[in-house]
Amino acid sequence: MEQRFKERYDELKWLYCELYQNDEAAFDYFCDMLRRSWAQRRESLRALDEKRQADPDWYRSNKLLGMMLYVDNFAGDLNGVMKKLDYIQDCGVNYLHLMPLLKTVPERSDGGYAVADFREVQPELGKMEELDDLTELCHEKDMCVCLDFVMNHTSEDHPWARAARAGDPVARSRYFFFDNWDIPFEYERTVPQVFPATAPGNFTWLDDCRQIVMTFFYPYQWDLNYRNPIVFNDMAENLLFLANQGVDVIRLDAVPYIWKELGTDCRNRPQVHTLVRMLHLACEIVCPGLLLLGEVIMEPEKLAPYFGPTDKPECHMLYNATTMCTTWHTVATRDVRLLRRQMEALSGLPRVYTFLNYLRCHDDIGWGLDFAWLWANLGQGEAPHKRYLNHWFTGIQPGSWSRGELYNNDERLSDARLCGTTASLCGLESAVTPAEVQRALDCDLMLHAWMLTQSGLPVLYSGDEIAQLNDYTYHSEPRKWADSRYLHRGRFPWDRAAQKDDPNTIPGRLFVPLRKLILLRAENDVFCADAEVNAFDTGSQQVLGVRRRFNGKTLTALFNFCEEGRWIFNPARGGRELVTGAVWADEWIELQGYGFVWLEGEIA
Ligand code: GLC
Repeated sequence: MEQRFKERYDELKWLYCELYQNDEAAFDYFCDMLRRSWAQRRESLRALDEKRQADPDWYRSNKLLGMMLYVDNFAGDLNGVMKKLDYIQDCGVNYLHLMPLLKTVPERSDGGYAVADFREVQPELGKMEELDDLTELCHEKDMCVCLDFVMNHTSEDHPWARAARAGDPVARSRYFFFDNWDIPFEYERTVPQVFPATAPGNFTWLDDCRQIVMTFFYPYQWDLNYRNPIVFNDMAENLLFLANQGVDVIRLDAVPYIWKELGTDCRNRPQVHTLVRMLHLACEIVCPGLLLLGEVIMEPEKLAPYFGPTDKPECHMLYNATTMCTTWHTVATRDVRLLRRQMEALSGLPRVYTFLNYLRCHDDIGWGLDFAWLWANLGQGEAPHKRYLNHWFTGIQPGSWSRGELYNNDERLSDARLCGTTASLCGLESAVTPAEVQRALDCDLMLHAWMLTQSGLPVLYSGDEIAQLNDYTYHSEPRKWADSRYLHRGRFPWDRAAQKDDPNTIPGRLFVPLRKLILLRAENDVFCADAEVNAFDTGSQQVLGVRRRFNGKTLTALFNFCEEGRWIFNPARGGRELVTGAVWADEWIELQGYGFVWLEGEIA
């Protein structure tokens, strides 16, 4: 550790002192804290660190597959999850993202993203020791565990916030407190809203102490002030505490927001990168096996800087949000051109940049599409196009079989995002006839195949593997009803899961072939993150073509994004299809509606 410290000391000190105006005392505290955290790291974790240092690309392997789930929805509590690890393994999953489980106040929790204590588990979910046991059990099974680190804000019920409310000036300096609206109004001129409908405004009036506090998200989530080095020091220590519970991957929640600057939009400020780089260095010193996963739901040009320069990395992995929403755009339009362009943009990035790929997660789908390109090339304007997408996915558009709900419908800007499970968005919920059911399952499977073909770590959203439908019960729960993200946060349907291996049931008709794809991906290293990936024109606007090359092997994949069959000129004649094992010698390939193929072999 001392050796690692020595190698990183100069850069760390430089960054810290530049950001915190040579506050040497704060820096010394920070360094002591790193040593303290290392001293508390148990032997088994240090051994894992060493193993990973010897294989630093471990997380870029095609053998890794993720799943994210809510502990309570899935299995009640942490003990329940331990008992259900077999199910997770059976899905081929070896990376488990547990949704926020730290202490919160259920009435004011934002799904756990309002943390009242970074060192305690929410009592209904278990205890910190059980998290420790779970990570240990996962490590025994060669699985890793990801946990959120909600660093932009704390709950108003966190002891710092309570002390600040009570008037403690030191505690207040951890947040943004104002005694009149002058500065808050200045901020409001330039800062957009995260939750315009469910939590309008970026500040909250506290009647009891007659103060205004900055709250970019919900009013009970108070933004931390990272200009104060004490905040950074303590939050870094909290992060390392979680790492020492055996957490392998830390999801840096809402990280673009952590530095506030009057007169700006308070997103992606240069200081955010300094803070993330310092966290990266701190982890390399204390727990070098740990990964930082950045939650940066931003346009691609703002995203790439969060990887950092290749010799000074920041996040190890980032969400591939643009590909995710462009995929759904493609489902609704049956036009792959924007998706192809997105693939071209990604293939221009350094290959070490690793993305986390997903179809759905616990959040809404925000339409962060390349609207400039859509307008210039397809003549589609932003507002009408978003309206079309939202109409399609809420089933309003004539002919649509999709069933979702709007999220944060901002009537002022005629902007809205979208919620729903993959299966419901693909039409399974509205399907009546056998043909409709088949169409929905085919679309669902094709989307998963496409996710598995992208480079990086694919992460399943729990329930999607068995085609879980929307859950409307939140409509009648006062704590949840205003937040339509609960539509896709339903209880895990164990009755459905029991049918997963039976190909005559609906869950089985998705799960059985999906599991086969998962195994094929793990067996074939052409799927690894180091492969060269390109999209190509298949001659059909409905069919996406992707080619992966690695170690002399080539995989050519085709995905039909429309419900009708398509004939495609065979791009890899004589190649074997991985899923069926058939050799495709013909000049033309017929893809069924929502069909796909994974062909081994070179493009002709
Ligand atoms: C992230 C989470 C989201 C939460 C927000 C505030 O974006 O994914 O669920 O509401 O942060 O913490």
